[in-house]
Amino acid sequence: MQVRSAVIPAAGLGTRFLPATKAVPKELFPIGDQPAIQVVIDEALGAGIDHIVIVSSRDKPAVADYFEPNNELLAALEEKGKSETADRLRAIGRDWRVSIVYQDDPKGLGHAVGCAREAVGDEPFAVMLPDEIMSSSSLLAQMNGVCASTQGSVVAVLEVPRDQVSAYGVIDPSGPMEDGVIPVKDLVEKPPTDEAPSNYILTGRYVLTADAWGEIEALTPGRGGELQLTDALKAQAARSPFHAVLSDVGRYDTGNPLGFLTASIQLGLANPELGADLRKFLGTL
Ligand code: G1P
Repeated sequence: MQVRSAVIPAAGLGTRFLPATKAVPKELFPIGDQPAIQVVIDEALGAGIDHIVIVSSRDKPAVADYFEPNNELLAALEEKGKSETADRLRAIGRDWRVSIVYQDDPKGLGHAVGCAREAVGDEPFAVMLPDEIMSSSSLLAQMNGVCASTQGSVVAVLEVPRDQVSAYGVIDPSGPMEDGVIPVKDLVEKPPTDEAPSNYILTGRYVLTADAWGEIEALTPGRGGELQLTDALKAQAARSPFHAVLSDVGRYDTGNPLGFLTASIQLGLANPELGADLRKFLGTL
């Protein structure tokens, strides 16, 4: 079955970006002329998803504003002859649907995703952590395919040096990798380095079968006292087919100022309108 909905948790306070995030949610920081969240949405659309569920916070009304039509602005643009820009604004949410749900209490990633249950319904869904920007939709599309063929949940993983695993969720493989797909028997959130079951870390993309909702609702506080999405997946992996796909796409961790700047430069270089001039400028440094 084609995965139709993607849940994007975006309720965080953005403390690593203060003071910039005091007035502007980091999901709206520009990457070229796009807000960062649109880059993640475009990745989802490229994988055939057409319903975006954003888990936001009532303290960040600007996130919902981005998706609201603004007729006055459209009229002003048309009057100035800027119809191309007006058309780009009209395209936001035109061929896809956006639902905004709110997480009133920051109880962890598992809780944030759980807030999207009603909007998604009883069907498989993707979860996309917007702090990680991927260079292509192909990873998510591949994960959708593995979910359909195995009838089980799928996570994206990266292989990292041992000393980095304790900052991430980690999978415990139950067999060897075949064509980039690894069967999984267990997952652990942020294990101490010497207890990590592998070097494969969760990298912000998930395609989950509908029975994940029950596990998410049953969560009790885990690592850091938070309701951890990884713990819900652990319960799924213990009883159902569960796989990891080794990511082969570029990944930018925009969760901190240096990562965000790096992503802006890399994606700027790849942008047909900005790339050549940006490369020229960088060459003068
Ligand atoms: C979250 C997940 C973790 C995953 C990571 C990927 O952690 O809980 O399993 O590896 O995202 O970015 P966070 O970075 O929110 O602490």
